[in-house]
Amino acid sequence: MENEDGETPPRTADTNNGARLSIMELANMISVPMSLNAVVRLNVADAIWQNGSNTPLSASEILFRIFSSGVGDPENLQRILRMLTSYGVFNEHVSSGEELKRRYSLTDIGKTLVTDEKGLSYGPYVLQHHQAELMKAWAVVHEAVVDSSTEPFVKANGGETAYGIYGKKPEMNDLMLKAMSGVSVPFMKAVLEGYDGFEGVERLVDVGGSAGDCLRMILQKHTHIMEGVNFDLPEVVAKAPKIDGVTHVGGDMFNSIPHGDAIFMKWVLTTWTDDEVKAIMINCFKSIPVGGKLIACEPVLPDHTDDSHRTRALLEGDIFVMTIYRAKGKHRTEDEYRQLGKSVGFLSFQAIYIDHFYTLLEFKK
Ligand SMILES: C[S@@+](CC[C@H](N)C(=O)[O-])C[C@H]1O[C@@H](n2cnc3c(N)ncnc32)[C@H](O)[C@@H]1O
Repeated sequence: MENEDGETPPRTADTNNGARLSIMELANMISVPMSLNAVVRLNVADAIWQNGSNTPLSASEILFRIFSSGVGDPENLQRILRMLTSYGVFNEHVSSGEELKRRYSLTDIGKTLVTDEKGLSYGPYVLQHHQAELMKAWAVVHEAVVDSSTEPFVKANGGETAYGIYGKKPEMNDLMLKAMSGVSVPFMKAVLEGYDGFEGVERLVDVGGSAGDCLRMILQKHTHIMEGVNFDLPEVVAKAPKIDGVTHVGGDMFNSIPHGDAIFMKWVLTTWTDDEVKAIMINCFKSIPVGGKLIACEPVLPDHTDDSHRTRALLEGDIFVMTIYRAKGKHRTEDEYRQLGKSVGFLSFQAIYIDHFYTLLEFKK
């Protein structure tokens, strides 16, 4: 039947077809990260990459490179690769003949999963997020709304916090270290190209510095820095590799932080509540001289909500923090960080946008 404009409306206009499709997509969304996890576990990216060849391969050819013994189910691997192609992880090359043949190469997103010469990639970060203990927490995210005094992770893991469990399970601690290195190294390359705030610093302390990768890279570029202190939990620094010019110090940032001209901190404040962030900032404030800086790199939320990749990545990370680390730990806006800094006595603040995910926050004493 034609409408007033003489057009025939789509048959499905009154059945809300698009909305029903979207809710089905959202309800099935778990297939995306879990398939990504499968691809990392199977080492698919390294199998395709093979020293940069990135030659399009069929699922059978990929399986042969992974297992060489001909085991595995190529049809199921292809199902995973097809789905992740639609999320931009793989390119699909289809050759038509009597039977459609599909081959896969890596896109720029897929290449982030390739292990580099230092053994790093974003793969461990994917695996780190999908360990059994973390997965249990995702079933009870609603608990963060019902009672925010205890994190979903803690409720799902018999009262243990995430960092508590990492400390007790060496394999989780190791994966966390690898995950942090894999994400931090490419980010730090961008920071070191675009940020000159380390000038004049002689002793730099990295709070929550994990394996010390950020500090190593800062010291390599800024040779005027005489000493780097990598400060993290005792069990974490115990596993950190030896780095020239860097002293690993174990401790608890809620008790005290080693002295320095400046403090660097990446991806630490986000995990904590406002009161805890103030406590960390007060300890930073105490450990730097007048004129000294706290340089924090954190995901910073935009004021407005939209469906861009950046906004989504930041909002999704916010729910991760709420579920796993702290029910009231959060991704914050620029203004929320400004106010937190002011409340503990920092005199000036500026946010520097170099990277799409992390923002550099400079607090000056
Ligand atoms: C998300 S990770 C970031 C690691 C590193 N800065 C990076 O970006 O690669 C947070 C770090 O904070 C450390 N951390 C957690 N609680 C801490 C505490 N109470 N005192 C010192 N470090 C702590 C963790 O061990 C971990 O290395």
